[in-house]
Amino acid sequence: MAAGNLKIQVLESADAVAAAASKVIVEAIKAKPRFVLGLATGSTPEKTYAKMAEANKAKQVSFAKVTTFNLDEYWGLDGDHDQSYRYFMNDRLFNHIDIRPWNTNVLNGMATSPLIECAAYEQKIFACGGVDLWLLGIGNNGHVAFNEPGSAVDSRTRLVSLTQSTINANSDGRFFSDPKDVPRCALSAGIGTIREARKIILLATGAGKADAVKAAVEGPFSPDCPASLLQDHLDCTFYLDKAAAAKLS
Ligand code: PGA
Repeated sequence: MAAGNLKIQVLESADAVAAAASKVIVEAIKAKPRFVLGLATGSTPEKTYAKMAEANKAKQVSFAKVTTFNLDEYWGLDGDHDQSYRYFMNDRLFNHIDIRPWNTNVLNGMATSPLIECAAYEQKIFACGGVDLWLLGIGNNGHVAFNEPGSAVDSRTRLVSLTQSTINANSDGRFFSDPKDVPRCALSAGIGTIREARKIILLATGAGKADAVKAAVEGPFSPDCPASLLQDHLDCTFYLDKAAAAKLS
């Protein structure tokens, strides 16, 4: 199925989505070992990361020459904090594969200057030759990374405020248990930063994402649904389970 330039793959289950995403990433790294891989956090990619680690353990792929860039980090959390995205990535993926730790890039939520941290991040992506493939999730409100509704199509890496809906979604017990513990701000790659990736794969699973997916795929190209700002990307595929795809016509 295609909507505009977007390609849509509807799969039977969340496990099938993870298997498909992992396969795309593993094959791409086999074809280009010095791969620049953009990564995301959240519940959705966890199964994909487990499959990537399995493939590495089975020696089907090596991450030894891969460089990674993560989408975002909570502002004010140290990488040692167990709710930081640096901690999440180490715990779910980096500690289980042969990637060199110094080739993994996550924005520093404790940077003295967010402006300098974000500009340096953009500069480093550029110096690495740009992102070959960025793996994304989507928020219930259509956000990608922490680009909340209203984010501009040409936004760059910057300090952003989280919406109440994102704070609530991240304090439902999966991550934080109390909304008051969720940081109010984050550093996030911009929509413009993400759109420069040569290939994008966005994963969505579960009925809770069905409205956001419908708005992203069938709604207008609009900052009201930041994921819709991927509609004109030349190589962007949404991998959806049946529940997340349920409202597509
Ligand atoms: P989730 O988050 O995978 O935990 O649902 C996705 C997102 O907010 O981008």
